Amino acid sequence: MICQKHLFSLRPGIHYLNCARKSPLLKTAEEACIKALIRGRNPINISIEDFFSESNVVREYFSKIINCQPSEIAILPSTSYGFSSALNNISPKRNGNAITIKEEFPSGYFSIKRWCKDHQNELVVVGPDQNSNTYGESWNNNIVNAINQNTSIVLMSGIHWMNGTKFDLKRIGDKCKSVGARFILDGTQTVGALPLDVKDLNIDALVCATYKWLFGPYSICLAYFGEAFANGIPLEEAWLNRTNSRKFSDLTNYQSEYHVNAGRYNVGESSNFITMPILRESLKQLNEWDVAKIQDYCKNLIQPLIKYLKSMNVELEGDKYFSNHLFSLKLPGNIDTNILNAKLEQHNIIVSLRGEFIRVSVNVFNDESDIQKLIEVIEMVR
Ligand SMILES: Cc1ncc(COP(=O)(O)O)c(C=O)c1O
Repeated sequence: MICQKHLFSLRPGIHYLNCARKSPLLKTAEEACIKALIRGRNPINISIEDFFSESNVVREYFSKIINCQPSEIAILPSTSYGFSSALNNISPKRNGNAITIKEEFPSGYFSIKRWCKDHQNELVVVGPDQNSNTYGESWNNNIVNAINQNTSIVLMSGIHWMNGTKFDLKRIGDKCKSVGARFILDGTQTVGALPLDVKDLNIDALVCATYKWLFGPYSICLAYFGEAFANGIPLEEAWLNRTNSRKFSDLTNYQSEYHVNAGRYNVGESSNFITMPILRESLKQLNEWDVAKIQDYCKNLIQPLIKYLKSMNVELEGDKYFSNHLFSLKLPGNIDTNILNAKLEQHNIIVSLRGEFIRVSVNVFNDESDIQKLIEVIEMVR
């Protein structure tokens, strides 16, 4: 794959290494949204079919990316909505526990914390061993070892949102299945940049905000709800989620059946006429690119940086636990992070800074000049 910058409207001279915060919009997505906005000037342009068609295409595209049926996808406003939808349908084990990872993103952490409190289960937060600068091996082992017959739920991210540590989801999913624990994954920083197969990994529910690696709009989150949730109770009773919702003239002939599988979990007004076209175009493009190729592109792109960091003896995670699209650099102690921060700003390099760590996240709109500029700036402050 070659650099895809030409498909975006990024400002020249800006080195945007922060897709983990928010992706730029594709030009095609922007155009589709403007067209949708203009269509919305006049309500007669919106047909009954429009309430369903756009979101169905989105489900279709997303299901291909994570290997499931379109009917297993729900359209939600945020990850926290997805966690609550899943957690509300999980029964606790007696004297049980639920597991999450150290410094999990707050939406997941607070959701599982509340569930534990409400269901008298213990919350177990698993971290890596502290005696090493690389976390992957011990962190993954500690998670797998923490899951036992008493575990009701494992709720965690596919990679760590701050440092990019990659989790061995196959091992974790298999262990969950063997002890009868539900596996809920936050795929926000994973799906779209790393291949992920919900069936192979035994994931019961997967929740992804779309405004990062899926190039979607803010306020649309996609979720997969597997078999375990097929008969669950949704958070709310949206009219669009009932089997007769297409019959606008007959809605009060109340149908208590929901659409099959995940259809019951869609948020009210899920057919967002203005922003859904953005997601449609983005997912179409992602399928054309192929997620595995995106990860390869990122891997090739960052090689000069990796080589440079190794020459400075910066310890990096090994291949198995390293995400090429999102990673964190702990720079040598002699580098003053305030000076570095100022220099990054001065040279239009956009990354996330956390203490002495820099989180770098790259995607197909980045090219060698972005990486080269980052190396130059680190070199200036050494
Ligand atoms: C792992 C992870 N989950 C969830 C979110 C945010 O989700 P939402 O905006 O839907 O609350 C983020 C945002 O940075 C994230 O990194």
